[in-house]
Amino acid sequence: MIESLLTQRVETLKPSGIRKFFDLVSQMEDVISLGVGEPDFLTPWHVREEAIYALEKGRTTYTSNAGLLELRQAIAKYLHNQYSLQYSPDDEILVTVGASEAIDLAIRCVVEPGDEVLIPEPSYVSYSPCVHIAAGKPVPIPTTDETEFRLTPQEVADCITDRTKAIIIPYPNNPTGAIMERHDLEGLVAVLAKHDILVISDEIYSELTYGSQHVSIASFPEMSNKTLVINGFSKAFAMTGWRLGYAAGPAPLIGAMTRIHQYSIMCTPTVSQYAALQALEHGLDDVVSMREEYDRRRRFMVHGFWSIGLACFVP
Ligand SMILES: Cc1ncc(COP(=O)(O)O)c(C=O)c1O
Repeated sequence: MIESLLTQRVETLKPSGIRKFFDLVSQMEDVISLGVGEPDFLTPWHVREEAIYALEKGRTTYTSNAGLLELRQAIAKYLHNQYSLQYSPDDEILVTVGASEAIDLAIRCVVEPGDEVLIPEPSYVSYSPCVHIAAGKPVPIPTTDETEFRLTPQEVADCITDRTKAIIIPYPNNPTGAIMERHDLEGLVAVLAKHDILVISDEIYSELTYGSQHVSIASFPEMSNKTLVINGFSKAFAMTGWRLGYAAGPAPLIGAMTRIHQYSIMCTPTVSQYAALQALEHGLDDVVSMREEYDRRRRFMVHGFWSIGLACFVP
């Protein structure tokens, strides 16, 4: 009987394959799961300690819907210092349940039934389902190794129609590892600046950029009023289980997202917010050392495989 009550959109929503794999692997011993982007570092100790301290101090009540003002101020400072982005903590930043909630809210705020959202593929698993739930139409833009999985201006221009409401810019990309450097973004900006389309820039992996500095598309003056930057603590600070992320963008959009958030979530977990504040104020060195370690491993992989290749082919 319950099945007949489910909406068509939920009925046709496929379960995440990667999650199934994750659940399967988590029950097996001695298997390394490459299924989800889970840092293999623990959250830095001083961040965990701050959370314990928050509990000891009895910081167990709701916070403001948008998140603690001190945390929003720290996020604004961080985005400014790292990526030259300018946001007001008062009405241009919303603290969310991971980047995941921010992606969902952004899509729900702009997509009407039948509206199209451009999504480079391959990319993270949640974008298309979120568009589907909002009764929109995900429009994939295939990317290939010929362009190092970067998005080209022509591909984007070819996919824009009068139903296009938003485009996801998911760089650094999961799963390809592709990045968009400044000159790549310049071409995209030339196309996107001409259209009234929301750019949802998922920058959750911004700190895991190797050999160059991450550039946010929102840092281009012509894009700042049409871009929503999404980021969070999961990857950079090894804080996946704390479920804390944020969105930064134009006040009317952040206001609309906050309206949904205040009814469905109320506010993100208070202890996690204090931990995140500690991470931003005192944990940037941890980010650097974790990145250096990831970098060391990827170099080892490349050189390791290359040496194995040589060992096979050179007599
Ligand atoms: C590209 C991308 N965006 C967003 C998320 C979700 O991150 P969060 O843990 O902040 O919800 C992930 C998680 O793997 C991801 O890979």
